[in-house]
Amino acid sequence: MLILFNSGLAFSKEVSFENKVKLSLSDLKKNYKVHKVEVYNFSTRSFEFYNAFSMKEILNTIYPDKKWRNSPYIKVLTTTGYEPMIEGYKFKERKSYLAFERSDKRPFTTMSGYRDVVSNLGPFYLIWKEDYKDKAAIRRDHWPFMITGFRLQDNPDSKFIPTNADSSNISWGYKNFIKQCVACHSIDGFGSEKDGELISNGKIDSFSDEYLMKFISDPKSVKKNSKMDPFPLKIDLRKKRIGDTIKYLRHVSLKYKNNYRKSKSKSLDKIMDGL
Ligand code: HEC
Repeated sequence: MLILFNSGLAFSKEVSFENKVKLSLSDLKKNYKVHKVEVYNFSTRSFEFYNAFSMKEILNTIYPDKKWRNSPYIKVLTTTGYEPMIEGYKFKERKSYLAFERSDKRPFTTMSGYRDVVSNLGPFYLIWKEDYKDKAAIRRDHWPFMITGFRLQDNPDSKFIPTNADSSNISWGYKNFIKQCVACHSIDGFGSEKDGELISNGKIDSFSDEYLMKFISDPKSVKKNSKMDPFPLKIDLRKKRIGDTIKYLRHVSLKYKNNYRKSKSKSLDKIMDGL
């Protein structure tokens, strides 16, 4: 079983939904129109052309009740275990395409936004038809590649979502955390297993604010062999975003510990009552 599964991954272009429905490239070509999509690459300052399927068309048929339209996030699965989450509304309001090859006779690669390296994009690459003068298109944090599947993703447990009573720093930290960290890390299981849990195991508490600030900004500056990507280098208000992400993590870690202690002592009370 496992061997079949692995060889399938290595040799066929296939995309899964909810880890259940699997569509090969020929299934996709049979069922959906191939669009020629033009995107502007800011690294090379040139246009690239891709053959791609409309994500909206695919999602509408995979989820017949159209429940994807109300999903807070759509999680993207990739060959590397990197699992970014993209807000569901973006798929609803903008034009996204699942690219499977370039239509300009180039290999299926591109120069990536931040690191300026050629990346292999297959099996699939998520691209967006956007006004390239618009800032949103510059960031490209919702352009994952090496895609193998998609999954609807609910919000995290409410104890991890800031409320109106929390400061705006914490709320903004949460937004940045979701955007920049959950592709590789999780909080109490929400997010990706790829590079580890940060909250429920107390990991975040083992580092000082100073260390976290330096590490998140430039991981290699404090840990030579770190495999973590630096926080996006060209993003606006970078320092504040990193600081607020740390504030958010401190806030939920404390909340998590308090809740955990409370529920623990409650059960201890119950046990004592029964004695
Ligand atoms: C592309 C994947 C990736 C992303 C995105 C990512 N990390 Fe990491 N992170 C890693 C890896 C890999 C490690 C393991 C240790 C190492 O290589 O430095 C790690 C380790 C850590 C550690 C432990 C540090 C240590 O010294 O052991 C913390 C804390 C952390 N990450 C926080 C974050 C925060 C906060 C974000 C979001 C701003 C984030 N990470 C985004 C991959 C990632």
